[in-house]
Amino acid sequence: FLGLLGDRFGRTARDLRVSLTDRCNLRCSYCMPAEGLAWLPTEATLTDAEVIRLLGVAVERLGITRVRFTGGEPLLRRGLEEIVAAAAALRGPDGRPELALTTNGLGLDRRAAALRAAGLDRVNVSLDSLDPERYAALARRDRLPDVLAGIEAAAAAGLSPVKINAVVMRGANEADVVPLAHFCLDRGYQLRFIEQMPLGPQGEWDRENLVTADEVLGLLRDAFDLSPAVEPRGAAPAELWDATGRDGAPAGRIGVIASVTHPFCGACDRTRLTADGQLRSCLFSRREGDLRSLLRSGASDDELAEAWCAAQWAKPAAHGIDTAGFVPPTRTMSAIGG
Ligand code: GTP
Ligand code: 5AD
Ligand code: SF4
Repeated sequence: FLGLLGDRFGRTARDLRVSLTDRCNLRCSYCMPAEGLAWLPTEATLTDAEVIRLLGVAVERLGITRVRFTGGEPLLRRGLEEIVAAAAALRGPDGRPELALTTNGLGLDRRAAALRAAGLDRVNVSLDSLDPERYAALARRDRLPDVLAGIEAAAAAGLSPVKINAVVMRGANEADVVPLAHFCLDRGYQLRFIEQMPLGPQGEWDRENLVTADEVLGLLRDAFDLSPAVEPRGAAPAELWDATGRDGAPAGRIGVIASVTHPFCGACDRTRLTADGQLRSCLFSRREGDLRSLLRSGASDDELAEAWCAAQWAKPAAHGIDTAGFVPPTRTMSAIGG
């Protein structure tokens, strides 16, 4: 064990988000242009063995206790089950890491059971609309039934809690807020509404037009009584609310992720690895640490761990989305890993 991943502002990273591919089979407007992006060439992408080696460094030497696989769409990575199994076999000072997946749900119906068997603990699935036409307009692909099948299969396989992520966009899916809440509360899924961040195609984000978390809570109050959850939230992005349904609707928890209007950077415990082996201390970092070059030039685990520590030390205090002079990162969400 070498040490923890600290930064200049007194935060410690315990949570690693690993992007396994920059590719995706949807084209959600807040994330990617319709034509897609210039994908990473195969040789630039870390191999399964390279990903597993870096996971070992993070868990065994750097105190990472939670690993989340993201993309692009991580289910497009053929070796996902093998990577999950290798991660599940790691033991750090705190034991086995918790393993989670953030996915759009396509193909999850066929793979949920195998992922569970490999050691995956839970999934977060993106679902921005329950209306097939609005879903197809937002995701630019007509795939709502596949996503719903994926969510059901994840719950049946014991990947729990199932969390559902919905980015709310003006004029696109405000009408889905209350139906999504009923859908998730009925089935025991943890729904979170997300404020759109400037991490998609140029010109897609407009602060003036942002649907804020407060606005979403206002929409929810048409159908539910809301009170803030009492448990401390820690480093989690989601603020949780206890929702009590009127007209006999079931009660439960609903979250809002207010990255723009109530930033949570001060408590951030995250570090990120991109599919091409670059270390990002923050979603909005301006600099990356090149772990891939080190890895491919024969560096030892200790050298990799030291480089990771140095990159994390430079983590910015906050994203500054709502400050003058904010410049979005050059990579989009799909290339960084949400
Ligand atoms: P759990 O709460 O552990 O289930 O995960 P999560 O909510 O952190 O992960 P998920 O991948 O589901 O992300 C949900 C939303 O939170 C996405 O819009 C992410 O981009 C956003 N998010 C996650 N981590 C960060 C972060 O470090 N900074 C900011 N600003 N947003 C984040
Ligand atoms: N702003 C906020 N959330 C986003 N996501 C993708 N792009 C953005 C954005 N620009 C969400 C996805 C997914 C999660 C990983 O991040 O919907 O649920
Ligand atoms: Fe952490 Fe950066 Fe996200 Fe803020 S923007 S919560 S510092 S990763």
